[in-house]
Amino acid sequence: MTTTSLDWKKIAELNQDAALSKAPAILEWAAESGLKLGLASSFSAEDTTLIHLLNSAIQKNPSAASRLHVFYLETGRLHEETLQTMEECRKRYPDVVFQGYFPDQSKVETLIREKGLFSFYESIENRKECCFVRKVEPLNRALKDLDGWITGLRQSQSVTRANLPAFQLDADHGGIVKLNPLTAWEESDVYKYIEENNIPLNALHRQGFPSIGCAPCTRAIQEGEDIRAGRWWWENPEHKECGLHAGGSK
Ligand code: ADX
Ligand code: SF4
Repeated sequence: MTTTSLDWKKIAELNQDAALSKAPAILEWAAESGLKLGLASSFSAEDTTLIHLLNSAIQKNPSAASRLHVFYLETGRLHEETLQTMEECRKRYPDVVFQGYFPDQSKVETLIREKGLFSFYESIENRKECCFVRKVEPLNRALKDLDGWITGLRQSQSVTRANLPAFQLDADHGGIVKLNPLTAWEESDVYKYIEENNIPLNALHRQGFPSIGCAPCTRAIQEGEDIRAGRWWWENPEHKECGLHAGGSK
């Protein structure tokens, strides 16, 4: 784990800085900061928007290209549409590095030998175990040598994200920086920006999936349902976290 020169006071100042209130400015700040940062992408509309903004920041500041990259947690259970979106992004943004992190092979082999391929439907413990093997442990590896990460989290996605600031220190990952440049965006802002800039859009969004996750654990929603209703739909809302954003951030 690396340490950064940013402390709580500096993070509070960055959140107060009016010049850093807009997403493009936050990505440009990231490029100029000298920090080694990874953009975590599920290839949702939020994340392809961020990839576009990251690419623009790299075009403005080419020396930052070696410090900034996109990473994705390839759980082994992603939708085909999500993988296709990744390929589209790779072609559209050739100056951006896309790094996949896969689950530990022997842990997956043990999990499915002992509990089968669909253990996550059987209990919350089983579901969290699968998320740990396929997402949380690979995330820890992805963040190990970074000064921070960038996410597509937004305040209006859920009550648990309602007060999410743009700049955080992530206590769950050794106090590294966590940037949430789209935190103040509404869903409609994301789609508008995608349309205006012809950004790759995951085809699942046109099939009723506002939130992108693993194929067996994500379904389309009906009109009027909460945008996260299709994630782990068989569980109560209070359990709907996979451990990527555990809540130890300030
Ligand atoms: S989750 O915790 O419920 O899965 P959500 O799907 O809302 O999170 O995504 C929030 C952010 O987490 C995304 O914008 C992205 O930054 C990151 N993220 C989610 N899934 C992945 C993934 N498979 N690979 C990399 N980053 C991801
Ligand atoms: Fe496993 Fe489902 Fe979690 Fe994906 S979302 S890691 S398939 S339990």
